[in-house]
Amino acid sequence: MSDSAQKVAQDAADQGVSQEAQLLAACYEGNSQRVQELVDSGAEIFVTDETGRTALHFAAASGDVDTVKLVLKAGIPWNTLDSGDYTAGDYAESGEHKEVYEELVQAGIRAEMILRLFSKGEANGRAANEDYLSQPVEYSGDRLVDAERNGVMMSWEAPLMDMHAQVICTKPDSTVLNVGFGMGIVDTSLEEFGPGKHVIVEAHPDVYKHMLSEGWGDKPNVHIVFGRWQDKLDEIRSLGPYDGIFFDTFGEFYEDLNDFHKVVFQEGDDVKPMLSKPDGIYSFFNGLGGDHKLFHDVYCHIVRADLLNLGIETEYTPVKGDAEIDEETWKGIKRPYWMLKQYNLPTCKWAQK
Ligand SMILES: C[S@@+](CC[C@H](N)C(=O)[O-])C[C@H]1O[C@@H](n2cnc3c(N)ncnc32)[C@H](O)[C@@H]1O
Repeated sequence: MSDSAQKVAQDAADQGVSQEAQLLAACYEGNSQRVQELVDSGAEIFVTDETGRTALHFAAASGDVDTVKLVLKAGIPWNTLDSGDYTAGDYAESGEHKEVYEELVQAGIRAEMILRLFSKGEANGRAANEDYLSQPVEYSGDRLVDAERNGVMMSWEAPLMDMHAQVICTKPDSTVLNVGFGMGIVDTSLEEFGPGKHVIVEAHPDVYKHMLSEGWGDKPNVHIVFGRWQDKLDEIRSLGPYDGIFFDTFGEFYEDLNDFHKVVFQEGDDVKPMLSKPDGIYSFFNGLGGDHKLFHDVYCHIVRADLLNLGIETEYTPVKGDAEIDEETWKGIKRPYWMLKQYNLPTCKWAQK
């Protein structure tokens, strides 16, 4: 310990205040120099107050970017939550500290990219949603729920589904693909645009039965592909190429979405992309990280970057995301999966060369 660090530790002891309490206070003041001194003098950075707030929450609340950077560098994860389930991003936002918020988003992007490098090839060969697909689902009023009462699809999303349909179906007689039927909301909207060919991929046996009972199998322009999209690629490809594609499954991870993107936009000597060139339009339900704004914003950046690597440009249109949500919405649902005011509706097109 250097002389000055020793002095800091001694001062803290003399004042009867723990170094850790001083550290949180210095973060809250945005006093990066003091935070550095306390860290150098051995103060424990992984400390929380009685409401679970970390040094990062306090630093974010201060609005001082240098303090935030320092605390991140000292090891507090960008996505840490306090006992109230708030991220440091929430503290930055409520103080209108835009620069701090952006620093947290960038830290999130960096961390997720690194994590991805380390977790490559860890898949265990099991479908992410194998349990969901093997258990019954129930249609009950405004919702479709799984065996554990997770909301698979809920009618509050209807206005968003209408917008997604409008985005991908821009002309009559087009060929469209939707992956994940759920309550059939987006497919009903798509039908209103009069697509010439409308392909629907659905993996759950109960949902498939429901589709048939609702007459979707009798519509002359509709082709139902029953099975996981991952297992039906040849069939899906043979029915394309598509002018519009929408993707909205359940119980899968970001890596599954990314894998879907790779096959849809893949191009090779013998393979044509599933999305028609140059005017095809793709969209997906953008619920990634939908329970925390900071997580969601990080994912919006990551998807955009991944799509660009595949030759696709993404534009997010901000729309009201909670128009149909009220205190009744999540009653009886295990865990709300969308808590944000703004929905970033993605429109994805082939990048102009
Ligand atoms: C959120 S819902 C889709 C809601 C739909 N967009 C609507 O407007 O009602 C997700 C659907 O994807 C289906 N699904 C889940 N994994 C799938 C997969 N790998 N392949 C195809 N469908 C899948 C689920 O069974 C469920 O019906």
